[in-house]
This record gives sequence, C-alpha cells and structure tokens, in this order.
Amino acid sequence: MFMLPQWMYAVAKLNIPEMLHHGAMTSSDIASKVDANPDRIDRLMHALCQQGYFKLSLSNGTERWLNTAKTEVLIESHPNTIRPLLLHWVEDCYGPSTRLLDALSSQASAFELYHEQPGMDFFSDYLESRPTSHAQFANAMTASSAFTDRAVMDDFSWSRFDSVIDIGGSRGSFILPLMDKYTKLKATIFDLPNVIEASERTLSDSTMNSSGRLTFQAGNFFDQDTIPRIGANSAFILRNILHDWSDSKCEKILSNLASAMTGQDSRIILIELGRAGNRERSNMERGRTTIDLLMMTMFAGKERTTDEFKGLLNAAGLELVAIHKTRSIAQVVEAKLATAN
Ligand SMILES: C[S@@+](CC[C@H](N)C(=O)[O-])C[C@H]1O[C@@H](n2cnc3c(N)ncnc32)[C@H](O)[C@@H]1O
Repeated sequence: MFMLPQWMYAVAKLNIPEMLHHGAMTSSDIASKVDANPDRIDRLMHALCQQGYFKLSLSNGTERWLNTAKTEVLIESHPNTIRPLLLHWVEDCYGPSTRLLDALSSQASAFELYHEQPGMDFFSDYLESRPTSHAQFANAMTASSAFTDRAVMDDFSWSRFDSVIDIGGSRGSFILPLMDKYTKLKATIFDLPNVIEASERTLSDSTMNSSGRLTFQAGNFFDQDTIPRIGANSAFILRNILHDWSDSKCEKILSNLASAMTGQDSRIILIELGRAGNRERSNMERGRTTIDLLMMTMFAGKERTTDEFKGLLNAAGLELVAIHKTRSIAQVVEAKLATAN
C-alpha cells in the first residue's frame, strides 16, 4: 500500500514516537506540541493504529496514545532504530520510485528519470549539493549496520589483518566497532572529499583517532592515483559499495584496488547481501530482493550472485578465495590478486 510509508514518515519526522516514549498523550496534546491540526493528527493516529502502529489506553474516560513495538523503532535513540532509514527512503527514494515503471524499459535509472538528469550520480551530484540529506544518509547507513554488523564481525576472522582501508567508509559505522573489537587493528576511512571532511569533523574526538589508529583519506575509487597502496596482512573493505554500481563501474573500482595491492597476502573484502542461488520465499530473500529493487531504482547496481562476483573479480585481475556466510543477511566475499598461471 503506497500510503503507509508516508503516514510513518509523518509521525517519525514529527518525533511523535519519541514524545510518547515519555508518556501517553491525547491527539490534541500531540497536535499542540507539534503545532499541527488536532483533527488531522487524530485521524492519522487512528489510521496507523489499525496497522499496528500506536495503541490507545483509556484512563479516567480519556483516550491517550502509546507506542507499540513498531513505533518504538521510529525513535532515533532506539538501538535498532529505523528512523534515519525511513527518512532517507521517503525523502530521497520515494520520488524516484514513482518512475520505476518507465525505468523498466530504459537505460536510465528511475532516479535519473525522476530528476530529469541523465547520468546524475546519487553520491557526487545529488548528496554533495544537499548537506542535510547527506548527513541523514550517513545516519541511515549507520542504522542499517545494526541489522548485520554483529554477525559480520563475529563470523569472519578479522584478527588476521594488521590494517584495513574502508573504501567508501563514510562515518566509520562499520570500522569503528571493528576497531573496538580488534584493539590492535589500524584503519583508514577512504571516501569522497566532502564525506571525509564531515567524517573527520564528526570523529575528531574519537580515542582511536587521537591514538593514531584511525586515519582518513579523501579520494575517488574511480581514480587510481588517489587510492593508498596496501601490503601483506592488509585489506580493502568494501561494505555496501559494489551493489550501488553497474558491472563496468565495479570492474573499474576493483581493478583500481587490485593495482594498489602488493602481494598475495593482501585481500579485498566485500560485505554485500548477495543473492541466494535458490529463489524460494524466505525472510532473507525478501530482504535481499527489496534492497535489490532499491539499487535498481536509485542506481545501476544490483545484489549479485556468487557467479556474478566471480566474473567481476576475474575481470579485474582478482580471484575469489571464499564466500563466508554469516548469521545475518550479509555475506563476506574474500578475494585476492589472481595467481599467475
Ligand atoms: C552505500 S554508502 C556505504 C557506506 C558504508 N560503507 C556503509 O556500509 O555504511 C556508499 C559510500 O561510497 C562512497 N562513495 C561513492 N562514490 C565514491 C567514489 N567515487 N569514491 C569514493 N567513495 C565513494 C559514498 O560517499 C558512501 O559513503
């Protein structure tokens, strides 16, 4: 149903779940707090209540609203919050989704069609000129990490690496907890200049930063000259990167990284959802196909199968070492420089 995300968005944007977290409120209390029309707030709350969002409590003859589990996660400080993701999806992705039908028979993405700008890039064109959306997108990426990161950190042996470079590492939502767990690990966050500028500012107080274990590098993964070299026991990490890009762009990114690797002991580690070989209905497959369609809407990217990863790696002078499953929807794809025959 197309309306529900907009209803959820309205209450999340107005921080109504946050207010109810501090105590039950009537519709008119809520309306006066957010400076909105009481009748409209009341009708919105009743519509959401019918979908399992919010419930009514009756005391002394007065009906007041309470959160349900579905609205608790719309609170920013909840450990499994989806608020930043919801705001990003509705503000940045909802409009482009209205052009999905046209994109099915076009070379352009729904995002490009919606903005009427062929070739427009979400990161370097759209986000770069919208600082608020940019910060919100970084928060959305951090929120999304709550779903998979614990499993990715626990179910792959990161201890073998002395240092890693997080390519497209944004605000460090993956690398910082990883460095907390592996206390000798050194890391560099590599991202576009405007992202690095914001990350350095946000993370300037981090203890890892001050102890010299965390460094920052501005660059562009399509420009080989900006990519730092790595040696033995080091890895490039690409978390949720390749699924944003077409096959030809992925080959370019991977071959640029391969050129910066100096030996058989360095690794490229991709953290991606991947795609199950069997396409039966399951919760995992539902999550993957949903994100796959989001990639199709916003980018020329996709969630890829093992064979598709192998093809990309081989074309870039790399070879697949293993695909490590985790107890989450994410998998860890380990690759190294191709062995010369
Ligand atoms: C989908 S986000 C993933 C962020 C982070 N790895 C995570 O999983 O939370 C993609 C990241 O790639 C970065 N990026 C996009 N184009 C880039 C480029 N040409 N060079 C370097 N980084 C880029 C974006 O700025 C963004 O931080």
